Amino acid sequence: MLAASPFRLEDGEPFHYRDGVLYVGDLPVDRLAGAAGTPVYLYDLDAVEAAFRRVQAAFAPGQLLYSVKANGNLALLRRLVALGAGFDVVSGGELLRVLRAGGHPDRIVFAGVGKTLEELRLAAHCGVVVHVESADELATLQAAAAGLGARARFGLRVNPDVEAGPHPYLRTGHDEAKFGLPRRTAVELLRRVAAGDYPNLDPVGVHVHIGSQLADPDELAAGARVALGVLQAGRQAGLALDRIDVGGGLPVAYDGGPVPSPEAFAAALAPLLAGSGAQLQIEPGRAVVARAGALVASVLAAKPRPAGQTVVVDTGMHHLLRPALYRARHRVVSVQLRPPTDLTWLVGPICESADVLAAGVPLPDLAPGDLVAVLDAGAYGMAMASNYNGQPRPAEVVVTGGEALLSRRRETWEDLLAWESGPARRLPVGGPGGGASIAVHGSSGAMGLMWSLTPTTLPGLGGGSPCADPHDHLRGASGRLG
Ligand code: LLP
Repeated sequence: MLAASPFRLEDGEPFHYRDGVLYVGDLPVDRLAGAAGTPVYLYDLDAVEAAFRRVQAAFAPGQLLYSVKANGNLALLRRLVALGAGFDVVSGGELLRVLRAGGHPDRIVFAGVGKTLEELRLAAHCGVVVHVESADELATLQAAAAGLGARARFGLRVNPDVEAGPHPYLRTGHDEAKFGLPRRTAVELLRRVAAGDYPNLDPVGVHVHIGSQLADPDELAAGARVALGVLQAGRQAGLALDRIDVGGGLPVAYDGGPVPSPEAFAAALAPLLAGSGAQLQIEPGRAVVARAGALVASVLAAKPRPAGQTVVVDTGMHHLLRPALYRARHRVVSVQLRPPTDLTWLVGPICESADVLAAGVPLPDLAPGDLVAVLDAGAYGMAMASNYNGQPRPAEVVVTGGEALLSRRRETWEDLLAWESGPARRLPVGGPGGGASIAVHGSSGAMGLMWSLTPTTLPGLGGGSPCADPHDHLRGASGRLG
């Protein structure tokens, strides 16, 4: 028998053992998995609320804009809307998701290194603040707003040349990153805005995001200092800039090690912002949702390996990409509490050697039908899931107040075929080839044209503006889990 598992569940965690079974909130995970099937993402919305409140209190009176890319589950977004959250979105799809959850356009910022004309038109139409990342994008936003006869608000995203983050893929603030504008270019653009070169645009502030899993509050402060410098230069040019958005990056201790608290990050920013007259905005994603979620899977097979066991489960890198992409280590536990007996490689069904959810971790002997839970999977789990190898994506269940709701049903094999239903159609292709055409599968080939063709409607929204009255917006009801 192995020593006790290194994966400790601390008191007060959303997922904990009670009477020998893993629980989330007041509900046993085995019963939830029985009702919803596996694989399934479980989210404890009460834990999301607690994490949100803690970060919000730490940065008060700053505004918390939850970063939707971490987890865009609609039930979870509705809960955050009810708590007064703002939102950071990075695509038209995420923007519509927040509007559908009842989010108010006034509390949404639209970031992202590449936005299409359609996305910028949608943002301008709805009145959300756009975080602009290039001079070309500023020109496109001006054109989008002018074309709609609207004004658009924007902030400039500055690249502060601050290197932070534990993995190269999580660093966004160094000068070779694709994100943001060099400081000098940002200041020049603000001067041109002040000179009237962008008549339909209203600048509101400066944005910076240096990376994820920040290890040191001073890194966040270093990025904020650069953003403040650009803000002051813009003010000197005559612009009324009053927002500093310092992005996200608050860390989560996946391995139980110490990480700085939200309060420590807030304390590092406080002296910089004091007296600046600028409102602070912060965009945490992971810190609000990571701990509140787990991916629960069933064992399909167990087989010996030279040292320990290989356990094959019905989920993998297609549903939780983090271990394969970043070599991230998630705590993995057996849903039935039993002492660990074997070093275990927990693997998925995907035909890739990288499809390993956990390597060499202590788990009990597991047999087909047993349940395991991959913890701390509420952030960048389902959000990054794919249909690779023809695999449907899992269901999502939210738990709150002792009740479970099926928020998103499991995808079916039929769903996977839906985009190619109907016969392949010939797609007329103009240009030098003259009347050449290519075959297109599916019933709709009009991808990308939706917003530019019909500025006040979007397909699938039943006509009308998606943001005319966000509170009235196609709120789907979640089904109760029996
Ligand atoms: N704001 C901006 C502009 C961002 O790009 C991001 C994350 C955030 C806020 C939220 O960062 P957070 O507080 O969650 O660290 N897939 C990776 C994380 C990529 C984060 C990308 N941007 C992962 O699974 O670790």
